[in-house]
Amino acid sequence: MSKTLYILNGPNLNRLGTRQPEIYGTVTLDEIKGCCAELVSAAGLDLVFRQSNAEGELVSQVQQAADSASALIINAGAYTHTSIALHDALKLMSQPVIELHLSNPAAREVFRQTNYVAPAATASICGFGAMGYEMAVTAALKLVKI
Ligand code: DQA
Repeated sequence: MSKTLYILNGPNLNRLGTRQPEIYGTVTLDEIKGCCAELVSAAGLDLVFRQSNAEGELVSQVQQAADSASALIINAGAYTHTSIALHDALKLMSQPVIELHLSNPAAREVFRQTNYVAPAATASICGFGAMGYEMAVTAALKLVKI
């Protein structure tokens, strides 16, 4: 069975490209997906790349990843700072989990200092903009020893 890398994206990340470009840059989520797909396919893995604005949907997708992914990369958006449900779902994972953010939440507003994802993740990549996705994919591929 081929290995599958999951990349999950939370609320408002479907608006990348036009959403607060001074913070998140001008690259769209579709462009990021294309770049990740190339890297993953070159390594011979399958990619599941999804975005949802709904917390419960993201919980279900993490559960799917727990059942079938080799590794998970997650940019949970604002749910990072609020969602115990997402934290609990991530704790189902025995595979590597990479937390990802385009910006560096630690250097932003106080309400972004609460983080329910990081304590359930293997590692975090923050503050590199869209390049963080490439970095996370490269790291995930190494973690699954491709
Ligand atoms: C984000 C950071 C979060 O604080 C914010 O709510 C987002 C995007 C990032 O990628 O920098 O929606 O996850």
